[in-house]
Amino acid sequence: MCGIVGYIGDKEAYPILINGLKRLEYRGYDSAGVALLNGETLLYKRKGKVSDLESFIGQQMVTGKIGMGHTRWATHGEPNDVNAHPHASFHKNFIIIHNGIIENYARLKEKLIHRGYEFQSETDTEVLANLIEYIYLSNPMTAEMAVRLALSKVVGAYGLVVMCKNEPDKLIAARKGSPLVIGVGQGEYFLASDATPIVEYTKSVIYMNDDDVAVIQKNELQLKTIQNQSLIPNIQELSLDIGEIDKMGFDHFMLKEIYEQPKAIADTFRGRITPDLMNIHLGGLHAVWPDLEKARRIIIVACGTSWHAGLVGEYLFEEFARIPVEVEYGSEFRYRKPVIYSDDVVIAISQSGETADTLAAIRLAKEAGAMVLGICNVVGSSIPRETDAGVYTHAGPEIGVASTKAFTAQVTVLTMMALKLAHNKYQISNEQYHHLIKELTLIPEKIERALGANEHIKTISKLYKDRNNAIYLGRGFLFPVALEGALKLKEISYIHAEGYPAAEMKHGPIALIDENMPVVVIATKDSSYEKIVSNIQEVKARNGIVIAVVTEGDDTIKKMANHVIEVPETPEHLAPLMSVIPLQLLSYHIAVMRGCNVDQPRNLAKSVTVE
Ligand code: G6P
Repeated sequence: MCGIVGYIGDKEAYPILINGLKRLEYRGYDSAGVALLNGETLLYKRKGKVSDLESFIGQQMVTGKIGMGHTRWATHGEPNDVNAHPHASFHKNFIIIHNGIIENYARLKEKLIHRGYEFQSETDTEVLANLIEYIYLSNPMTAEMAVRLALSKVVGAYGLVVMCKNEPDKLIAARKGSPLVIGVGQGEYFLASDATPIVEYTKSVIYMNDDDVAVIQKNELQLKTIQNQSLIPNIQELSLDIGEIDKMGFDHFMLKEIYEQPKAIADTFRGRITPDLMNIHLGGLHAVWPDLEKARRIIIVACGTSWHAGLVGEYLFEEFARIPVEVEYGSEFRYRKPVIYSDDVVIAISQSGETADTLAAIRLAKEAGAMVLGICNVVGSSIPRETDAGVYTHAGPEIGVASTKAFTAQVTVLTMMALKLAHNKYQISNEQYHHLIKELTLIPEKIERALGANEHIKTISKLYKDRNNAIYLGRGFLFPVALEGALKLKEISYIHAEGYPAAEMKHGPIALIDENMPVVVIATKDSSYEKIVSNIQEVKARNGIVIAVVTEGDDTIKKMANHVIEVPETPEHLAPLMSVIPLQLLSYHIAVMRGCNVDQPRNLAKSVTVE
């Protein structure tokens, strides 16, 4: 949700800023801007993508060795040139970029207007720029003091970078709720919302914490609190590789990430399943196992695709470990005054580790005394830092806005947790435990096979790309997959799609079915196979078009459905990992054929750091 970059050093800042913005564009892409100090202040901003900003700047000489850039996902004020960041303060002393929301901006704005300040934009960020300037001009002080004082008056979330024209050798950065990483180079520093713009220059990074303020000069970094207490920076080594953030020959990041799933899953269980396939070790949870085993209840909190993974988790934990589970949207949980017991275990699932509602939900759970665990992909992000323990998914950076490999990696972690928990609690036999571990290790190779259906899926996609609606049906472990398949189609192709438990279709959605309605049925062989076959017949009886995901060699459904897509056989508990693959490909091809921007769908952002 908004991407931030900054640079100070001996190099020309502009190319570093533009490249950095391109790396961060998945965080927001409705407008972009850069500002540099070079004796004078250079400020360029534009509605649209980073490439629109680049063409707008064209061949102009944008020189300067200190600067900042921003790619926006609008919260306050529509996407246009004026609302784009950076924002200059009224008297042009300060320039600022900001990710987050200043909640008390309206009151602050009113006060500033009374004091003669005028505003160009509708943003909360410009209010902050003017507040900093107002404080700065009220008394003699440094820019840094003005930033800290202004932030002490602000309610809300921010990751921000400020430049002051009177102190042109400094970047001032601050974080509360919205991530910021500082890259430490030789006589140069980088700033970014995540490490992807930094990794090609340095692997030494400092993850800023909430309430940190950094004052950065090319040869000096001071880290302190908003209250001006000095902090010792904790420099860490990045494990990210530059190759991981390139498309590597694929047309889109999403397609690359779909194809990376065998590796993402294998990397996620690697080192956690013993070589003899007899046991599971989750090092990150080692210290908390006794509490986890004693949990009265597990509450899973998440948003979007991660919430769907959580739903698979519910089915797994309840079936295997016999622990009651509730799956909650972070945004509902945090505001609905939920009952939380101190012996509940709350599991936050988040690819980015930064989703504001999920983060707020775990803070609430912690206040209530519950143990909080995380399943996250981005190392060092906020959720892993705020949870008591957790397990990283090793899916690698996910850049496509529509989540794919993060989902299957999350389900992999949940499967390992549920199996281990069940085994420790004597809820499953050794035989079943070992069998399912072995089957889990076979998943990557089976997904490779499932990906072999790509061309066939493309052919089906061509037939239905112009439909306006679709229904996705699944039962049991495949119901969350139906939700996820429908979400994928909505997100990237803008086709309205509903995911439903197949039997529940009779209580409403069946009214929608006619000869124009594609119905995607996830119908691999499991304990409710006969039931879903009946559901397919119900759809066919109403002339619906059935696209069925089936187990290899299934001839029964082949005779009923308009199209079948086969996936390798796997135990039903692991079936979500397999059956989601064709649905990802189906949505991908339909979106490409409709001319949609697959990696950057309209109105969405990869990481939603505002509530
Ligand atoms: C956004 C993304 C989704 C993602 C959701 C949760 O809406 O567009 O793809 O599933 O956030 O994100 P998280 O990082 O917490 O998994």
